Amino acid sequence: MGKTREKELMSRGKRNNSGKPRHVAFIMDGNGRWAERRHLPRVLGHREGAKALERAVRFGVQEGIPYLSFFAFSTENWRRPAEEVEGLMKLFRQTLSDKTVELAEQGIRLRFCGRIGDLPADIQENIEKAEKMTSSLDRMQLIICMNYGGRQELLDAVAKAFANDVSDLDERSFREYLYLPDVPDPDLIIRTSGEMRLSNFFLWQASYAELYFMDVLWPDFDEKDFIDALMAYSKRKRRYGATEGF
Ligand code: FPP
Repeated sequence: MGKTREKELMSRGKRNNSGKPRHVAFIMDGNGRWAERRHLPRVLGHREGAKALERAVRFGVQEGIPYLSFFAFSTENWRRPAEEVEGLMKLFRQTLSDKTVELAEQGIRLRFCGRIGDLPADIQENIEKAEKMTSSLDRMQLIICMNYGGRQELLDAVAKAFANDVSDLDERSFREYLYLPDVPDPDLIIRTSGEMRLSNFFLWQASYAELYFMDVLWPDFDEKDFIDALMAYSKRKRRYGATEGF
């Protein structure tokens, strides 16, 4: 990472803490293309993607960002070839069992977001263990969105509200039915690989998020790219529908 840019970012952070996002969410796109360009199986792109995720978490901790979310597997990803889905599930199993203790030692709370009950039973067990083991940690919350879809989350929330006979919903009470109601909305959503869409990610939570799209493929995403996104974010003016200075 360039020393000047690092310094600029750090002093910006110290001068104006509001220029730093509290919650950064990632749409990790481009693993398949990264692998195909190297004539490798797509699942090797996902493996490299998991390394990029680890780099992003390390940098996020270093920067003191309290919440990081990653869109790891969508409700639509089941439609991919069986070999790729199996490869991804294997990677989740392996990463969960290899990394949970290290995350716990780093003070990181691990949480999962999505229709977890529809994942393979052993992955559900590992998820439950990892969430339990790290539940009291508060250095950072690391949120992995698995079998997640924004529309599905909204439908699940409406179903829970109905089941509770809720009659007058407002934004605050509705939030209670989301998968992780206590997690603040993302301030910044970063999508890699040049695609410019949300693809059913955090539809409720993204209402006022700043969106940042970059051409780099997810396995190549590094600290420099993270810094670029944070710098761009710090220059945005967030108005939440009000006029400037209001
Ligand atoms: C999108 O790239 C990426 C995914 C569908 C999977 C992302 C998963 C990881 C990075 C692994 C994370 C690991 C853990 C343990 C959470 P793509 O396949 O759509 O790429 P393409 O658009 O180039 O085809």
